[in-house]
Amino acid sequence: MDRFRRTLVDTHHIRTPKDSEVVMTELVLPNDTNQLGNLLGGRLMHWVDIAAALVAMRHSSKVCVTASVDEISFFEPIKLGHVVTLYARANRAFRTSIEVGVRVLRQDPLNSTEAHTSSAYLTFVAIDNYGKPIPIPALQPATDEDKRRYEEAAMRRQQRLHHRKSLQEFHQSTKKDS
Ligand SMILES: CC(C)(COP(=O)(O)OP(=O)(O)OC[C@H]1O[C@@H](n2cnc3c(N)ncnc32)[C@H](O)[C@@H]1OP(=O)(O)O)[C@@H](O)C(=O)NCCC(=O)NCCS
Repeated sequence: MDRFRRTLVDTHHIRTPKDSEVVMTELVLPNDTNQLGNLLGGRLMHWVDIAAALVAMRHSSKVCVTASVDEISFFEPIKLGHVVTLYARANRAFRTSIEVGVRVLRQDPLNSTEAHTSSAYLTFVAIDNYGKPIPIPALQPATDEDKRRYEEAAMRRQQRLHHRKSLQEFHQSTKKDS
């Protein structure tokens, strides 16, 4: 009965970015590094994807797949023995998709110095059992910072979809030519 009641409450709950945020902490071990003792870019991208996917799934309560990653830059190396913390938060939910922002900080646990090393924006799409996109709940920005991110996400979405359309048109034109 308690479980049933909780499901009903959750379904009607107004979901804010705070509700689904994820803070993920990893320790950089030898198997995560290259021959210079730096964290592999691919390993970091994997962690970014996992943290962001968790946000999308927490927000939507659905299985979500990565549709796109806008960009990920590496501002400075992360070394063996550093602690990596990923802060992932939903910026805006659309009909079936959601933009998640991830901020990566690295800390040297021996002297507590901290640096912002990467940021990324990812889009996830909620899918049903047949892999078809399905609607997700709205996201209600609560703080001024949430509102700024919410507005900016709409601009990034426009660019993303424009880029997707250009690529599709390009592929169609090359198919016709061949
Ligand atoms: C993502 C996926 C479900 C979209 O399916 P689709 O049939 O192209 O869907 P639609 O064109 O109806 O778009 C559905 C939503 O996805 C969004 N979308 C699709 N491609 C996108 C892209 N490249 N970037 C951002 N959003 C995208 C659309 O904007 C739409 O969002 P909205 O409903 O909120 O407006 C499908 O392309 C897929 O399954 N891709 C593989 C995902 C995967 O396996 N990822 C792991 C990496 S291998």
